[in-house]
Amino acid sequence: MARYSHLVSGAALLLQLQHAHIAYAQQVYILFNGTSPRPDCTGCDIPATPTYKFSSFSFTQTETYRYASSIAPATTTMTYARPYSALSSLVPSLTTTKWGNWSPNDTAATDTADPYGQAAWSSLWAWANPTNFTTTGIYSTTVSPTPLPSSELVLPPKDYFGPTDCYNFPADFIFGVAGSAAQIEGAIAREGKGPNLMDVLARPGQANNYVTNENYYLYKQDIERLASIGVKYYSFSIAWSRILPFALPGTPVNQAGIDHYDDIINFVLSKGMIPTVTIIHFDTPLQFFAANVSAKWDDVAIGYTNGAYQNSTFEDAFVHYGKIVLTHFADRVPIWFTFNEPLLYSDNGASINTVVKSHARLAHFYKDVIKGTGKIGMKLNDNFGVPLNPKNESHVAAAYHFNSFQLDTFWNPLVLGVDYPDAFKITVPDYVPLNATDLAYMKDTCDFVAVDPYTATVVSPPPGGIEECAMNSSSPYFPYCVVQQTNNTFGWNIGYRSYSYVYITPEYLRTYINYLWNTFKKPVFVSEFGFPVFGEADKAVVEDQLFDTPRSLYYLSFMSEILKAIWEDGVNVMGVLAWSFADNWEFGDYDARFGLQVVDRTNQKRRFKKSFFDLVDFVRDRHPNYEST
Ligand SMILES: *[C@@H]1O[C@H](CO)[C@@H](O)[C@H](O)[C@H]1NC(C)=O
Ligand SMILES: *[C@@H]1O[C@H](CO)[C@@H](O)[C@H](O)[C@H]1NC(C)=O
Ligand SMILES: *[C@@H]1O[C@H](CO)[C@@H](O)[C@H](O)[C@H]1NC(C)=O
Ligand SMILES: *[C@@H]1O[C@H](CO)[C@@H](O)[C@H](O)[C@H]1NC(C)=O
Ligand SMILES: *[C@@H]1O[C@H](CO)[C@@H](O)[C@H](O)[C@H]1NC(C)=O
Ligand SMILES: *[C@@H]1O[C@H](CO)[C@@H](O)[C@H](O)[C@H]1NC(C)=O
Ligand SMILES: *[C@@H]1O[C@H](CO)[C@@H](O)[C@H](O)[C@H]1NC(C)=O
Ligand SMILES: *[C@@H]1O[C@H](CO)[C@@H](O)[C@H](O)[C@H]1NC(C)=O
Ligand SMILES: *[C@@H]1O[C@H](CO)[C@@H](O)[C@H](O)[C@H]1NC(C)=O
Repeated sequence: MARYSHLVSGAALLLQLQHAHIAYAQQVYILFNGTSPRPDCTGCDIPATPTYKFSSFSFTQTETYRYASSIAPATTTMTYARPYSALSSLVPSLTTTKWGNWSPNDTAATDTADPYGQAAWSSLWAWANPTNFTTTGIYSTTVSPTPLPSSELVLPPKDYFGPTDCYNFPADFIFGVAGSAAQIEGAIAREGKGPNLMDVLARPGQANNYVTNENYYLYKQDIERLASIGVKYYSFSIAWSRILPFALPGTPVNQAGIDHYDDIINFVLSKGMIPTVTIIHFDTPLQFFAANVSAKWDDVAIGYTNGAYQNSTFEDAFVHYGKIVLTHFADRVPIWFTFNEPLLYSDNGASINTVVKSHARLAHFYKDVIKGTGKIGMKLNDNFGVPLNPKNESHVAAAYHFNSFQLDTFWNPLVLGVDYPDAFKITVPDYVPLNATDLAYMKDTCDFVAVDPYTATVVSPPPGGIEECAMNSSSPYFPYCVVQQTNNTFGWNIGYRSYSYVYITPEYLRTYINYLWNTFKKPVFVSEFGFPVFGEADKAVVEDQLFDTPRSLYYLSFMSEILKAIWEDGVNVMGVLAWSFADNWEFGDYDARFGLQVVDRTNQKRRFKKSFFDLVDFVRDRHPNYEST
């Protein structure tokens, strides 16, 4: 609270800014001396001196403890489209098949004449050749869920300092938790799943994802736990290569994959929870790298990894796959994300072209053809750029450039129906131009703007300026072409720092969602946020991992600022999905622990961290309509 009073909401500054629609520039620093203001205490009648007295002493201190309230099982289920039986003709000529499991030790299957037989499927895996492949997981079949003992559901002691707000969430506010297929499923070469980028992502010395949380077999228990602690929405991603092991249109659908995700959705619903689905979360089928699998890491002009979106066969194949999952599941899933953070897996201008065009095609399919009544959008990454000195126009311009490159590149066409931003066009000169027909088709194909606002970035221009950097891909500042820092002008970190890049920056989150709402004029969805507590993986005593006060501070402060954005700033925040519901595989290690639960990797046992109770409790205390959202 005290920190906030040292800042002014930049209302006076606002008119000086070139983009007058932004309501906040919070990091205008006003230095002052003297004591911290205590506005809560004005009017309190406290005598000048205390009165001392003796009384009898006994150990009668009481502490109240509560059980978490579980989600009530479903009585009715909403539908958002007709069932697959009524939609199947929209994706004609599908055939389904079942395949077995793969291991390097297998004796070869003999159905070699069948282009999509067991032998062809096994040879996909032999070609993918996952390094140090192992199947040392515990499970090989779906585990039946067991109810949680009430002893696991006692809320932890509260932190001494906590939220003091009086706001409630709107009745339709969405609260849930998220995960992604490759990070939790395991069973990568089981029941017909084909190889994908995530199965071969780990570089030498990194951890692979062959086992992870064994959620492929433990999903019912995972969902049971979430319902028991009181989570309403469960967000998961579907692995394309589990639905279509041969990836391309015209190849058979894996019945086991359809059945698996169908059962996840039905089990979520039976628990009174609601599913949301991401169609691709980094796990591009390996076929799109067929010419050179080694090219997955290197020479990526824009993102961190080559997701093969620029492969000219990707767009039609992704749309085909997307239609399969939409026709099968849109009846029961109200919220769809097509791509997860596509910029990070984009190689060049053609990659972005594929992403925006295939998103628009799937959104039109969902709205115009299926006539789905739920919502569809895309999740973007951008740890919001704020100007180092908001009184300096070039710093403000740098912040706009940084955010525009990451957000407007997608939402200019897909929300506003306007051309790519200059920030993208000057940085990626091989971009594929969009004409008026494209833009008219793309406009309004996102029902919401979803971001993963883990933290914030302090931004200023690079030496030589933004344009010079944007034209020089060898610049150390390329492709964002700004100086990024995580401290303020006095040298203080912008917030408490985690294991890696995440700082606790709740006020910047409020600025960010104001920016999104006022720029794109769509409901804002916080589709991932989370905090990997520093040193958590190194704590030898599991109880010390469970008592994760910094993560509670992160979540409760972010949620408090979201409430202020809703009630004080008039921003429509549709909901939040916390990342992640359990510790998982973080693209090469298990150390960056974003989980709300600890996972014991020797026996796959999950335990709720303190922050999970605190976050759920915060929302349910303030949500008038939690059971029926
Ligand atoms: C506040 O303290 C700083 C640092 O000691 C000092 O330089 C400055 O003159 C003080 N300002 C006022 C208004 O007292
Ligand atoms: C393959 O066989 C070897 C030798 O029996 C064994 O050590 C290894 O674990 C097996 N690999 C798999 C993936 O089953
Ligand atoms: C594979 O195993 C070798 C030997 O244990 C190890 O050096 C290497 O880092 C491992 N690679 C991966 C990707 O796991
Ligand atoms: C692009 O994907 C197709 C599969 O649809 C594959 O045959 C081709 O080799 C891929 N191109 C590259 C450069 O990997
Ligand atoms: C495959 O890609 C790697 C990494 O980009 C590169 O070093 C190698 O030369 C490529 N091989 C071929 C045959 O193009
Ligand atoms: C604004 O920032 C730029 C880049 O950091 C700097 O060169 C310039 O002097 C600043 N202008 C003012 C008025 O402070
Ligand atoms: C616009 O571009 C698309 C390709 O993105 C092309 O198919 C279409 O013909 C173009 N329309 C006009 C009017 O140029
Ligand atoms: C591009 O940036 C690199 C690295 O800073 C520098 O060595 C090179 O001279 C720059 N090229 C141009 C054309 O400015
Ligand atoms: C902020 O951190 C950067 C390094 O990230 C450092 O170069 C700079 O001096 C720091 N700023 C201040 C005011 O301490």
